[in-house]
Amino acid sequence: MHILKGDVPAVTKGRILGHEGVGVIEELGSAVHNFKKGDHVLISCITSCGKCEYCKKQMYSHCEDGGWILGHLIDGTQAEFVRIPHADNSLYPIPEGANEEALVMLSDILPTGHEIGVLNGAVKPGDTIAIVGAGPVGMSVLLTAQFYSPSQIIMIDTDESRLALAKTFGATQTINPAKEDVVKVIMGQTKDGVDVSIEAVGIPQTFDICQNIIRPGGHIANVGVHGKSVDLQIQKLWIQNITLTTGLVNTNTTPMLLKTVASKRIEPEKLITHRFSFDEVIKAYEVFGNASREKAMKVIISS
Ligand SMILES: NC(=O)c1ccc[n+]([C@@H]2O[C@H](COP(=O)([O-])OP(=O)(O)OC[C@H]3O[C@@H](n4cnc5c(N)ncnc54)[C@H](O)[C@@H]3O)[C@@H](O)[C@H]2O)c1
Ligand SMILES: [Zn+2]
Repeated sequence: MHILKGDVPAVTKGRILGHEGVGVIEELGSAVHNFKKGDHVLISCITSCGKCEYCKKQMYSHCEDGGWILGHLIDGTQAEFVRIPHADNSLYPIPEGANEEALVMLSDILPTGHEIGVLNGAVKPGDTIAIVGAGPVGMSVLLTAQFYSPSQIIMIDTDESRLALAKTFGATQTINPAKEDVVKVIMGQTKDGVDVSIEAVGIPQTFDICQNIIRPGGHIANVGVHGKSVDLQIQKLWIQNITLTTGLVNTNTTPMLLKTVASKRIEPEKLITHRFSFDEVIKAYEVFGNASREKAMKVIISS
């Protein structure tokens, strides 16, 4: 949707979009050793060579010959066939009997929520955490935060149906900033704010909520993609020993997340609300583009 709105100028006309998906290997390049024809695979949104300095540090998002290129700088996954460069390191084998649709959630949103939200935010047992944004990424933060047993998870969004869904996924409390003053509510009920606030929208207002509800020693984890600058209150934050993190997903926790899905510790298929075939792709974009009205969370397109 960011690309359709023109927010990503590097995407040229005619580019096939899509950086999430699962598939079956039809043909192999000569450099691919880990896979064979017919293998079912999960496609990472991040392409990584596995050899460069950044890959060696597991910072795949900054791979010198990869990173986020699928559906961006090269043709992506929303087609019958897609070429995946550096396949050995950018694909993951799908275990036999797995729910393949569910694994599409592991291409991007679950590792994003886990790595950039939960791990960067250093969520610990007993923590009180607030997640601003209950879209697919915020929901992925909500699901993966529960690996680390926070005692309270406050979900904040202006969309009531998303807040209701968040409750079913384990949110202990929801707040709608269109109806209540989030900062007042949270500061009123906690002694001095939350341990971790996670920004999963990408606009100045929601970043502001995160920096105004954080307690001394807390972590603000920014996940949202921002198109504009925010008003960073550094003069207040420094003396409170606040850690602020940002990041583009690396997908280095994908193998671990695959195991948690296989064991049903998390069930990301619950995020899927709509299914379309390729010849209905325009309809799929219409539905996803009106996610609130259509009550859409994740949309599956298949051949
Ligand atoms: N860092 C990364 O690597 C990475 C990866 C993927 C996505 N993202 C970003 O994460 C963000 C969330 O992605 P998504 O797919 O869940 O997006 P989304 O648009 O589906 O969800 C955003 C949510 O924010 C809510 N919202 C909008 N304005 C609000 C406000 N003023 N107060 C409270 N809630 C508000 C919306 O109702 C919606 O539910 C996006 O900015 C996306 O680009 C980052
Ligand atoms: Zn690399």
